[in-house]
Amino acid sequence: MELAVGGGMRRSASHTSLSESDDFDLSRLLNKPRINVDRQRSFDDCSLSDVSHSGGYGRGGAFDGMYSPGGGLRSLVGTPASSALHSFEPHPIVGDAWEALRRSLVFFRGQPLGTIAAFDHASEEVLNYDQVFVRDFVPSALAFLMNGEPDIVKNFLLKTVLLQGWEKKVDRFKLGEGAMPASFKVLHDAKKGVDTLHADFGESAIGRVAPVDSGFWWIILLRAYTKSTGDMTLAETPECQKGMRLILSLCLSEGFDTFPTLLCADGCCMIDRRMGVYGYPIEIQALFFMALKCALQMLKHDNEGKEFVEKIATRLHALSYHMRSYFWLDFQQLNDIYRYKTEEYSHTAVNKFNVIPDSIPDWLFDFMPCQGGFFIGNVSPARMDFRWFALGNMIAILSSLATPEQSTAIMDLIEERWEELIGEMPLKICYPAIENHEWRIVTGCDPKNTRWSYHNGGSWPVLLWLLTAACIKTGRPQIARRAIDLAESRLLKDGWPEYYDGKLGRYVGKQARKFQTWSIAGYLVAKMMLEDPSHLGMISLEEDRAMLKPVLKRSASWTN
Ligand code: GLC
Repeated sequence: MELAVGGGMRRSASHTSLSESDDFDLSRLLNKPRINVDRQRSFDDCSLSDVSHSGGYGRGGAFDGMYSPGGGLRSLVGTPASSALHSFEPHPIVGDAWEALRRSLVFFRGQPLGTIAAFDHASEEVLNYDQVFVRDFVPSALAFLMNGEPDIVKNFLLKTVLLQGWEKKVDRFKLGEGAMPASFKVLHDAKKGVDTLHADFGESAIGRVAPVDSGFWWIILLRAYTKSTGDMTLAETPECQKGMRLILSLCLSEGFDTFPTLLCADGCCMIDRRMGVYGYPIEIQALFFMALKCALQMLKHDNEGKEFVEKIATRLHALSYHMRSYFWLDFQQLNDIYRYKTEEYSHTAVNKFNVIPDSIPDWLFDFMPCQGGFFIGNVSPARMDFRWFALGNMIAILSSLATPEQSTAIMDLIEERWEELIGEMPLKICYPAIENHEWRIVTGCDPKNTRWSYHNGGSWPVLLWLLTAACIKTGRPQIARRAIDLAESRLLKDGWPEYYDGKLGRYVGKQARKFQTWSIAGYLVAKMMLEDPSHLGMISLEEDRAMLKPVLKRSASWTN
């Protein structure tokens, strides 16, 4: 298998970029001599040869001892290229993790197409864990890309975009054309020797919610593939261009909105059950923002694409302003809200959404450190969901929805509130858990989402890759290393559980699957990124200076 490298990239004049620094400038944080990144050098990577000693915008910025010069990349069957390439001893569980990841591969007509959610034969109930979930496949895909095996990712992207073209119905209601499935299954007919696909767009899902995140993850993954391989031809195919446009037309359509955020039903993302994450949940807003930025880099400026490019630029401008102003909470902001007056009318209102200070939960006053902050869970009229949600905050850092100062503050919060947010197993999906009467009302008495379990304050190892990426981006790899050490001490021993329970995440989750693929892949991606931080470029976007003023700036290609 061959990987395109730096010089030999195909370029396309039809692509554009909002800024000259779309991608993360690693030179800002690398303070070690250059590493050999020829193997994964992607077409618009920063120049790692211009390594600076300035550190990242966070504190520290040191990757002491984490680099080792890599060689050329070979895809070694059954062998993790990353650990084979590096001079230091890989942790003994890395090999097991790769084996488990490969065991979860799903084949369609002889080609690897994805990974199933969990390879848990001990569990009596398979439910839909034998399916390939779009969101679950993302860390698997990143692991394969980082290991120099992009073909499975390409197959996945092409096949899912075909599924998007299916007519989708829930009872008699037809879903929007752009909707992407939450999951799909390969059905093997041994007699006839044929494979067929069966996709779920929400019509079989618990609660019948369509996954809003799937389309966003698909776009983000398309960019990761392009960035990692330098192969722009996939994104340029009419299928992928149309796939992007259809997803975008679903979320950029005009309605009665007064906010640039995207209105959603409860359970339309990783938290796929009722958990009070309806309205404008941070996870969806952050993914929306990231997908818009990725699409902007990949959309052609042809007749059909042009209209979207303009809409995206305008939306990004409004969305970043809204999120950075109204979803952001730190000590000062909390104090301001605490002193809010209510019933203010007109443009001069300070308390724009009429948030009643009494609705601030008690836990927050102690939880909020003097230094640090985060994007809260949700903001809508008279409702601020003050809970911490890990995925949304990590994506906010990676997509540069968070300003550099906000990103630093999020990392400060994680350090300050380590016990609450990381505890003994990284990483809490949200904090705190809801209990008692509130749990009854918000979850509808969901026995799976009892306090400190599953989506309700459970700890999900998959989130480790996002944390690691955010740590690298903010120049705080030591936080990731500490979290990875914790996970390493238990994951294999416990059989790669889907989630852990308890205030400290000490117990294997009540109904957690074993050999949960994204727990395995998430760990591998975290390890590989820490070993070779240049991988970060696949899933990180730099802040666009142009976002501050919504002027479209054209450049010859998105390599500029
Ligand atoms: C659970 C999770 C969801 C995941 C699925 C498959 O439903 O909530 O995020 O995609 O399991 O692992």
